[in-house]
Amino acid sequence: MTDIRIHVRASREYDVVIGKGLIAKVGQLVREAVPKATKILIVSETNVAPLYLDTVKGSLEGEGFEVEEVVFEAGEKSKNIDTIARMWGVMAKAGFTRTDAVVALGGGVTGDMAGFAAATFLRGIDVVQIPTSLLAQVDASVGGKTGIDLPEGKNQVGSFHQPSMVIEDTDCLKTLSPDKFTEGLGEVLKYAFIMDKELLKVLEIYEDKGNLQNDTQTLTDIVKACVADKVEVITEDEFDTGRRQILNFGHTIGHVIERDSNFTKDHGVCVAMGMGIIADACLAAGMTDKATHDRMISLIEAYGLPSGDGITPDEAVAGVMNDKKKRGNTISLIVVRNIGEAEICPMDPEGLRIFLSRR
Ligand SMILES: NC(=O)c1ccc[n+]([C@@H]2O[C@H](COP(=O)([O-])OP(=O)(O)OC[C@H]3O[C@@H](n4cnc5c(N)ncnc54)[C@H](O)[C@@H]3O)[C@@H](O)[C@H]2O)c1
Ligand SMILES: [Zn+2]
Repeated sequence: MTDIRIHVRASREYDVVIGKGLIAKVGQLVREAVPKATKILIVSETNVAPLYLDTVKGSLEGEGFEVEEVVFEAGEKSKNIDTIARMWGVMAKAGFTRTDAVVALGGGVTGDMAGFAAATFLRGIDVVQIPTSLLAQVDASVGGKTGIDLPEGKNQVGSFHQPSMVIEDTDCLKTLSPDKFTEGLGEVLKYAFIMDKELLKVLEIYEDKGNLQNDTQTLTDIVKACVADKVEVITEDEFDTGRRQILNFGHTIGHVIERDSNFTKDHGVCVAMGMGIIADACLAAGMTDKATHDRMISLIEAYGLPSGDGITPDEAVAGVMNDKKKRGNTISLIVVRNIGEAEICPMDPEGLRIFLSRR
C-alpha cells in the first residue's frame, strides 16, 4: 500500500503522511520536512521509547542527522514546565540553531510538549510530529495546538505552532493498551457524528468491532478519514475562533466529567459520555429524532464506550462555568441534530441547566 498524504494549508503548509511501517522511514521524511536541519531532538517518554526510539534514532542518524534525546516519565503529570526546561537545556547545550528541529515521538502528551518546546526555543524552531496513540493520530498531532498544564488546570499555557510534517505509522497502534485504543475511538466517533457520514457507515458496518485494533488496513482508512476531517476544519479556522469549535462536540460536558474524576477517567471516554448526554438532551428537547439519537448511542456502546454518566445538570453547569474555553457568560454548546452536521449552540448557564434537566 502506498502512503497517504494529506496536505494542510494553514499559516504553514505541511503534509500529514499516513501509512504502515513509516517509523523505519522517518529519516527520509524528516529530511524532506526540515531540509536545513543538522541536529534533531527526539522527545519521547518511558512507554513509547523502548518500543520505537531506536528505530527512529537509527533512521535519523542514517540520514546524517546528529540526534539528541529527552525521554520523560510517561503520563499527563509530566506535562509541565520542568519537562520543557529539560528539552530547552539539552538543545541549548548541544548548540541547536534556528534551522534545527524537534521530533515528537509519542502520544498527545509528548506532541503537545515537544511542540511547545519547539515553539519557544529560539522563538520557534521546526517540529515534526510522530503520533503513536490513536488519539494523537486522529486529533492532537494535527492543527498546531501545543502546550502544558498548570496545577490550576490543563493546557493553560501554550501556543499555536504548526508542525513541518506529521508522520502517522498505523502499525504503532498495535502496541497501545486496549483501553487507550478504545479511548481514541471516542474522538473517531466524534468526527463521524459531527461531519462524516461515510466514516459513520464504515464504523457501523464493520463487523468485528472488538478486533479493530488488529486490523491495520481498516484502521489506516479510518485514521485517514479523521485527519482529512480535522484538516478541513482547521484550514477554515486555524486559530479556533469559529468553526473549529465543532471539534468540541462531547467535550463541554466531557471535560467536567474528566476533571470531577480527578483525571482518573480517560479523556476519550469522557468525550463519549459527553456526546451521549448531549444526544439524550437533544432528544428530550425535541431537537433531534429518536433514530438519530439511537444511532449515536448504539455506535458509542458498540465500540465499548459509555454513553452517559451520573453527572447532574447542576454539576455540569458549575463545571462548565470553570472552563477556560467559555467566552464570558456564554457557553458554546455543540449539538448534532442530524448525523454529519454539527451546530454551535450558544447558551447561558441557566439555559444549559434546563437543557440538561430534561433528559
Ligand atoms: N494539541 C491538541 O490539539 C490536542 C488534542 C487532543 C488532546 N491533546 C492532548 O493530548 C493528551 C492526550 O493524548 P494521549 O491520549 O495520546 O496521551 P498520552 O501521550 O499520555 O498517551 C496515552 C498512553 O498511551 C501510551 N502510548 C502512546 N503510544 C503508544 C504506543 N504506540 N504503544 C504503547 N503505548 C503507547 C502512552 O505512554 C500513554 O501511557 C492530553 O494531554 C491532551 O491535552 C492535545
Ligand atoms: Zn478531545
